[in-house]
Amino acid sequence: MLIIIILCSLFCHSSLSDDSKELTIKDIDLLTATITDLQQALHSNQITSYNLVKSYLERIKKVNNELHAIIETNPDALDQASKLDQERNDNKDAKRSPLHGIPLLIKDNIATDDKMNTTSGSFALLGSKVPRDADVIYRLRKVGAIILGKTSMSEWSASRTTNQTREGWSARGGVSKSAYVENGDPCGSSSGSAIATSIGLCAAALGTETDGSIVCPSSRASLVGIKPTVGLTSRAGVIPVSHSQDSVGPMGKTVRDVALLLEAIQGIDPRDNATLNIDAVRPNNYTQFLLGTEGFKNMRLGVVRYGVFYNYTTSESDIMSEEQIQSANDAIELMKHYGAYIEDPANIQNIENINNGTSESVVLKTEFKQDIEVYLSKLQNTNIKTLADLIQFNNDNKQLEFTEYMPDHNLFEASENTTGYNSSKYTEALATNLRLGRTEGIDYTLDKYNLDALIMIGDGASSTAAIAQYPIISVPLGYLTENNGINKTLTGTPYGILFISRAWREDILLRVAHAFEQATHVRDRVRPKYAI
Ligand SMILES: *[C@@H]1O[C@H](CO)[C@@H](O)[C@H](O)[C@H]1NC(C)=O
Ligand SMILES: *[C@@H]1O[C@H](CO)[C@@H](O)[C@H](O)[C@H]1NC(C)=O
Ligand SMILES: *[C@@H]1O[C@H](CO)[C@@H](O)[C@H](O)[C@H]1NC(C)=O
Ligand SMILES: *[C@@H]1O[C@H](CO)[C@@H](O)[C@H](O)[C@H]1NC(C)=O
Ligand SMILES: *[C@@H]1O[C@H](CO)[C@@H](O)[C@H](O)[C@H]1NC(C)=O
Ligand SMILES: *[C@@H]1O[C@H](CO)[C@@H](O)[C@H](O)[C@H]1NC(C)=O
Ligand SMILES: *[C@@H]1O[C@H](CO)[C@@H](O)[C@H](O)[C@H]1NC(C)=O
Ligand SMILES: *[C@@H]1O[C@H](CO)[C@@H](O)[C@H](O)[C@H]1NC(C)=O
Ligand SMILES: *[C@@H]1O[C@H](CO)[C@@H](O)[C@H](O)[C@H]1NC(C)=O
Repeated sequence: MLIIIILCSLFCHSSLSDDSKELTIKDIDLLTATITDLQQALHSNQITSYNLVKSYLERIKKVNNELHAIIETNPDALDQASKLDQERNDNKDAKRSPLHGIPLLIKDNIATDDKMNTTSGSFALLGSKVPRDADVIYRLRKVGAIILGKTSMSEWSASRTTNQTREGWSARGGVSKSAYVENGDPCGSSSGSAIATSIGLCAAALGTETDGSIVCPSSRASLVGIKPTVGLTSRAGVIPVSHSQDSVGPMGKTVRDVALLLEAIQGIDPRDNATLNIDAVRPNNYTQFLLGTEGFKNMRLGVVRYGVFYNYTTSESDIMSEEQIQSANDAIELMKHYGAYIEDPANIQNIENINNGTSESVVLKTEFKQDIEVYLSKLQNTNIKTLADLIQFNNDNKQLEFTEYMPDHNLFEASENTTGYNSSKYTEALATNLRLGRTEGIDYTLDKYNLDALIMIGDGASSTAAIAQYPIISVPLGYLTENNGINKTLTGTPYGILFISRAWREDILLRVAHAFEQATHVRDRVRPKYAI
């Protein structure tokens, strides 16, 4: 054993690595390379994981000063890659999974028990010690994935300020920017995971979503992103906003990559009771549902028009133009052409009461105070134990934590003011969410028209699935033109189309998203402005 280690220290790196500072690996364009492409290249000895990590680190160095997509890289990533290369070399058939040796990036609110920090973008938790890897990280490492680094995000998952002048800002990460548009708002809060994947700083990434935080940045980066049903993926070890709504999910260049990642991270975890609800019949193989355009056959889809395609309530950072509506209408015609049945409209009743966020905000602010204190109680090497400590930290470090992008503390203070799960305001709001989102919302509409899934568009369209705790997927739909009617500076901004369904029906979402992707290949049409 010792001899092998000594020999390896002499030869392994030199035989496995190539010291040239290349941003691409021969015949592989890392901008577009998918997990499946990389796995094939690894399998045929065309590349090594060591080389792959090295190239990704070079690419990060090259663009991060401009885009601010990454907060930290993993100092052990090259060593871990060498070990995984060695394992593959020792026995070609010992491949742990389709993720063996694949470098991934992780949102900064997902705990890694290694040299990296887990901070939600804030200086408050810098240097704190997490008790263990988050469950999703444990699962990724077990199947051979390499955690390449932590991505920037809207600080505290955008749960600090009511004045979100721009998404993707954090004190540690700075102002993160879209790879597609000069100074483009990447949306949030999983901003860096989206930017990094879109410009090929990793094969794919993990994000988290409370309401829109995976699907919106994925949409703005011409990526596929899925927020799974709350409880399909464990939140243990994830800096929370709300246990009722938070969900960890994959963001990737293709539906297939997202399906592979979802397969790897889902599962029951005793540390997150929501995962105990996982339906016994949930599939553990999601790629079986990827049928190409055939996937549209026998699918019954409903178009949620009211409050989504028209009479849409925008907020400052939402983007919604007539041309988006036009491309969605064209997309719906295309789905019909491929054999989908379309119910149009299939509206959600009371969607204004969902979109106005009244009951949702009560649930989020009440749960944040409780959930963050449970998370903090498990940390070592920090004096921050309560939400009040966080507020105090920010007030003591105003020059770091208050900027034009994070001008106030309103949501932290509103959360600090809440009185816990016994307050009738909270229990009523939670019941209202489930009624509006499920029994009068998604379930009602799907039942009424006997549908498999619903179609929506727009950055603000995630709230129905959010309060229902149901899954939602975004798949690329188009790019704003000069005539977008909102602002010329947005020209080139990608946008997606959303599908939502019932609890545990990720299979349906992946199937229709794959069918749409294969019918259109929207992502392949445009290279990001900052492409390297
Ligand atoms: C984590 O933060 C500490 C500062 O507390 C820093 O010294 C260390 O380099 C950080 N880790 C990484 C991987 O950047
Ligand atoms: C899960 O639920 C059980 C039973 O209600 C409870 O005892 C336990 O503390 C819960 N675990 C977590 C991690 O919340
Ligand atoms: C999942 O199913 C597909 C199609 O049936 C199959 O090709 C693939 O090997 C399966 N994946 C795993 C991990 O078993
Ligand atoms: C939008 O709502 C207003 C009233 O709030 C109504 O007058 C108008 O007709 C609606 N627009 C559409 C396209 O339905
Ligand atoms: C928002 O929805 C609530 C019900 O959840 C309703 O009582 C309230 O009037 C609505 N507010 C606005 C501003 O539309
Ligand atoms: C939001 O912050 C900006 C920059 O500090 C400020 O100009 C603006 O007035 C704020 N808006 C609100 C609604 O507080
Ligand atoms: C929190 O409560 C204090 C004291 O009642 C009040 O002054 C403050 O406005 C409240 N803050 C928010 C954001 O609700
Ligand atoms: C909440 O209510 C339950 C049951 O009514 C009670 O046992 C519990 O002590 C209450 N918790 C708080 C924090 O008041
Ligand atoms: C367009 O966006 C730019 C950059 O954000 C801004 O300065 C300008 O005021 C906007 N123009 C309009 C018409 O909104």
